[in-house]
Amino acid sequence: MCRNPFKYAPVFLCLVVSGLIFVLRNIHSVENWNCHTISSLYHIQKRIHSSLLRANLPTFHHNRTYCAHLGQKPSPEDEVEERYLLDSIAWPGPTLYSPTALRQTSDPVHSLFTILPSKEGREWHVGDQLEVLVQIHDFQGRPKRYGGDFLVARLHSKELGAGVAGEVLDHKNGFYSAVFPLFWVGPAQVEITLVHSSEAVAVLRRLREERPDRVFFKSVFRLGFLSETTVCNLCLPSDQEPLCNYTDLHTGEPWYCYKPKMLSCDTRINHAKGGYLKHLLTNNEALLFQSGVNLKVQIHASGPDRVNVLPPRKDTFEIKSSSVKPEDIKLTPSGYYYKNIWRPLDGETMGQFNKPSSIVQCLKNKVINMYGDSTVRQWFEYLISSAPEIKEFNLHSPKNVGPFMAVDSAHNILLKYRCHGPPIRFTTVLSSELRYISNELDGLSGGPNTVVALSIWAHFSTFPVEVYIRRLRHIRRAVIRLLERAPGTLVVIRSANLQALDQEVSLYNSDWFSLQLDKVLRAMFKEVDVLLVDAWQMTLAHHLPHALHPPPAIVKNMINMLLSYICPENKGASWH
Ligand SMILES: *[C@@H]1O[C@H](CO)[C@@H](O)[C@H](O)[C@H]1NC(C)=O
Ligand SMILES: *[C@@H]1O[C@H](CO)[C@@H](O)[C@H](O)[C@H]1NC(C)=O
Repeated sequence: MCRNPFKYAPVFLCLVVSGLIFVLRNIHSVENWNCHTISSLYHIQKRIHSSLLRANLPTFHHNRTYCAHLGQKPSPEDEVEERYLLDSIAWPGPTLYSPTALRQTSDPVHSLFTILPSKEGREWHVGDQLEVLVQIHDFQGRPKRYGGDFLVARLHSKELGAGVAGEVLDHKNGFYSAVFPLFWVGPAQVEITLVHSSEAVAVLRRLREERPDRVFFKSVFRLGFLSETTVCNLCLPSDQEPLCNYTDLHTGEPWYCYKPKMLSCDTRINHAKGGYLKHLLTNNEALLFQSGVNLKVQIHASGPDRVNVLPPRKDTFEIKSSSVKPEDIKLTPSGYYYKNIWRPLDGETMGQFNKPSSIVQCLKNKVINMYGDSTVRQWFEYLISSAPEIKEFNLHSPKNVGPFMAVDSAHNILLKYRCHGPPIRFTTVLSSELRYISNELDGLSGGPNTVVALSIWAHFSTFPVEVYIRRLRHIRRAVIRLLERAPGTLVVIRSANLQALDQEVSLYNSDWFSLQLDKVLRAMFKEVDVLLVDAWQMTLAHHLPHALHPPPAIVKNMINMLLSYICPENKGASWH
């Protein structure tokens, strides 16, 4: 009987357990319900945000240099340099596209090129210069009388894996010369491409000056449960709504967002690409950007399009009968491909770092800091995938955004990547991770074991060139400070590259924008002790199609170039 009190214990226990289960189940579904409701509220809120975002885009005063004038005023010396730089990239041709009919604009199909001299009997030797004359016609077959067409030229041989970029000279009368130095014995085929007609360039020029808002940005502001999203850009018209001013205190680089309605400016948590404005072109203008018609289309030869190059001449006497004056040739090739390997012409021989061990050996004891857009992030990715000993350290950063870090502690290698400051069209960068390159450089100790690799171009094509000049000025100052306080620091700059273009991409990212920025970049760093990886020529000279992120075959050559700069004495197997 003494056990009686426990007689009903199993029943009691069962009741308690089932009660508990009931309660737990209910709690669970209540939570589910809450979660669901919160998430649908969040989605609704998000949808409202993004539609408001588009509706609330500012109306721009579409006047020239509106954007350029925001931010601090350049010093008198800076202004002189800016003037010089802008003059040096002045582009001939119509400045305004007066809506002439398509049939009066440049047509690659009616245009022709001729290898000079066109008569028989000319021999070409390595060391000579091959000259090509291009004549542009319109869609009716009539010769154009003014310049400004954007042409690119390449001499190549598929069999030999050879290629070199040509220099194009605009005679401003519808004729163009393309000039190629001859580097290899054997076949060499000329390829001339009309990237844009002069009329299309006029449209791009207008967009660049008047529509710096054609790519817009956004930021989320958050405090507790409240969150708001507003539009941001380098410049926003200040007469429409209150602004948050995120101008960088060190550099004076401007950045603005519209002030959220309820939250304060210091609740900004991130930065992201907002979107691309549509309907930027009139119907007439749109005809100037047709893939396969007048956008990156090859021009045919009127006669042969190739020559056979003979070994170098023995005699030093060479009869020059060139119509191109040597002083007109500004862009000398920085290298050429042979057997698909880039051969730089600056006296450096490029090592081949084909084995992971040769990469690791070269980078031993180095800290490599990469700053910039996704084209230098590609270098980070290439290095960690080709040298698995350099392991990525998980910083829990968003994919493709960073910051990223990779370490090989056995060889004391540290590899870092961080994106450049706004304008940056990445998906979502936390506000706390938004940094300007010049400020980052100021925070480096530097020295012989430090490498800095920079790439900054692609996100600036939607702005007037002055914006890019200002940014490079800040970076250049920081580079000079770094080299002065820490001699032996190696600074490598990756240039812009060509990319695949269709109508839409052209308006935001055309190679014409990139070329203009690239010329400025080269001029501004000419006198500074930095090394260049010429991505422009490496993509132009190569047979693979142009791509914003060049294919691995080209990146490999860039990396070999970088590694040759880092360890010139330790070249791996030289190609000689
Ligand atoms: C552009 O428009 C803004 C706003 O109306 C004005 O303040 C500015 O002076 C104009 N700039 C030029 C160069 O006309
Ligand atoms: C934003 O802040 C900077 C730096 O404090 C200042 O120079 C600039 O005038 C401000 N911009 C506006 C529109 O108030």
